[in-house]
Parts: sequence; C-alpha cells; structure tokens
Amino acid sequence: MKRLLRSQEARTGRRNVTGRRMINTILRGGGLIVDTRSGNICIKLDQMMKAGRSMTSSHGRIFTGRLNAIPVIVKMPLSEKAITGWKDEVSITNRMSEAGIAPEVYVQSPIPGHEFVIMQRYDWDLFTHMLRTLDLPEHKHREEGNRVKEGLRDLIARIAKYHENNPEKSLCIGDFRMENIVINTFKYEMKQIDFDSRFCAAPETLNEQLGAKLDVELLMMLCLTFSYSQFNAEGLAGVFPPHGRVFLDELLARKKDVLALVDALEPLESSTMKNLRNLLLEGTFGKRRSWADVVRRSMGARDSPVSVVDASDSSTPDSER
Ligand SMILES: Nc1ncnc2c1ncn2[C@@H]1O[C@H](COP(=O)(O)OP(=O)(O)O)[C@@H](O)[C@H]1O
Ligand SMILES: [Mg+2]
Repeated sequence: MKRLLRSQEARTGRRNVTGRRMINTILRGGGLIVDTRSGNICIKLDQMMKAGRSMTSSHGRIFTGRLNAIPVIVKMPLSEKAITGWKDEVSITNRMSEAGIAPEVYVQSPIPGHEFVIMQRYDWDLFTHMLRTLDLPEHKHREEGNRVKEGLRDLIARIAKYHENNPEKSLCIGDFRMENIVINTFKYEMKQIDFDSRFCAAPETLNEQLGAKLDVELLMMLCLTFSYSQFNAEGLAGVFPPHGRVFLDELLARKKDVLALVDALEPLESSTMKNLRNLLLEGTFGKRRSWADVVRRSMGARDSPVSVVDASDSSTPDSER
C-alpha cells in the first residue's frame, strides 16, 4: 500500500502534500529571469511577486529563477514576524552558506520593504524527496533511505565542524527537519535552509545544563530523528526500518548520552524547544506528550513524572509562525 506523509507545515491544508508538490513543480519549472547587473532586479522581482502569488507559504514567498544560467530561489519574508526576523535570518543564512551548511547565497537585501535573498536552488526539499521515494517500488525504499542517511551524515558532520570552530555561535536545531533540508539528487548533497533565530539555541545554555562538552553531531541527529510525527515515522518505516526514524539505531547505541542530552534540552524555555515539541505532536488523537518524553520512550526509558503537555499550548506549531 502506498503511504503518504503529512506535511508538518499544514495549517489549514494550504501547505499540504499536494500544495508542496505543486510548489516544487513550479520550482523545477524555472523560467523567470533575475539579472542583478542590469539593475532591473526590483522590477523583475515585482513581476515575480505577481506571477508567484499563488505559491506563497504562510510566512514567506518563494520564487524560482535563473541568475546567469544558475538555478536560484528567491525568498522574501511575508508575515510580520518573518520581516522582523529577516535581518537575523539573512545573517545566519550567510554564515551558514559560507560554512557550506546552507546553499550558496548570491544576492541579499535587508532593505526594509525590499527584503529578499537569492540563493542556489537544489532539486527538492527532503520532505518532498521522501514522498517521491515512497512512489518507488518497495524494494528500493531501504536502499534510498541509506543514501539519504549518508548525505545527512555528511551535512551533520559539516555542522559539527562549524560549531567546533565557532563554539559561541547559536545552534539552529529547533527547525532542523526534512522540510528545511534541501537535496541535490545527483550527488545526494544536502544543505540546511530556513534559519529562524528564534529556533536556534545558545550553546552555553546547553553546555551548562549538560555539565559536559556538547556533542553537536549527536544533538543534530537527535533533533532530526524526532522532528516528525509518529504518523510520518510509520509512513517511513520501510525507508528507515524498523521504526521510520532516521538515526534511531545510532541514538540507541548511545542511549546514555542521548538521555543526558534530552534532560539538558527539556528545560529550555525558548521557542526552540517549543518548536521541536510542537513538530512532533500529532494533535488529532491520543494523549499529548512532551518532546522529551517521546524521545525517552523511544529510547526505552520511562516518561518523566510531569509528562503531559497542555493541549491548549500545542495546537498551532510555532514553525508556522
Ligand atoms: N535553496 C533551495 N533549493 C530548493 N528548494 C528550496 C530552497 N529554498 C527553499 N526551498 C523550498 O521552499 C520551501 C520553503 O522555504 P523555506 O526557506 O523553508 O521557507 P519558510 O520559511 O516559508 O518555511 C522549502 O521547504 C523548499 O521546498
Ligand atoms: Mg521552512
């Protein structure tokens, strides 16, 4: 039976699976031209805005184009929150791009009223890639899962290296999920996108909580592995057997360290933690559990004594802004 995955960004179904496929078809279609040197960029962007209205997301506009024949993405903030956080987002995106973690940034504008960034376009986001994987014959699922894992390991290693060299920089963990990772399906090269500073955590806080040196690689694996709902994990069971969670085997092998990490993450009073937790919640049935408790249970440990999350607090994922 063919399984579907639910986009965790769907608020009213606007950005559901079909919508996401449509966005990506448009992205692949290309065709709009932006020329930075001619000085026509704003006019062209205006045209793109008109052409692209139907593919707006809840917090930004994404357009496709070619810049000197290179496929690019133009991203513009739309919601008030996204506009307020734009300066931070652009600065983190730049930093990450230089570190080889985010796609290459070609042009960026923090000018009020004309905020945008133009970056290298990848083939798909990983969520869409996983949907396409489920369309393949079943015997290919596992092999595809392994290739994806390889690419992810490589991305995570680059992230860890960056933080080793820049220990004071905040860790963008709260929104580290399949929708925010893009993939080049020729080389299986992956990059992280969509850096909202509200979902990044200060490393000092985590170090203090841990009382030990933070293992960034383990942290990133943990966040990604538990960044999607149980529904989607079940859908991916054949791709990442047996539980459909990307790095669960690796995490189980280091159970003690993982549980210490979860204990350190749990008290974070930030949007970071709230976002992580909200991404995981199903919202439609069953008892709501905290992110930390879902992880603990999957690791074979018992829930913490205070485990139920207030339902009123979790109906709208923060990631939707
Ligand atoms: N560089 C890129 N290459 C390919 N697809 C991209 C790229 N940047 C964004 N996208 C697509 O656009 C979607 C939304 O972009 P994102 O930066 O995550 O914005 P939002 O803040 O609206 O979530 C992504 O999930 C992905 O499908
Ligand atoms: Mg996103």
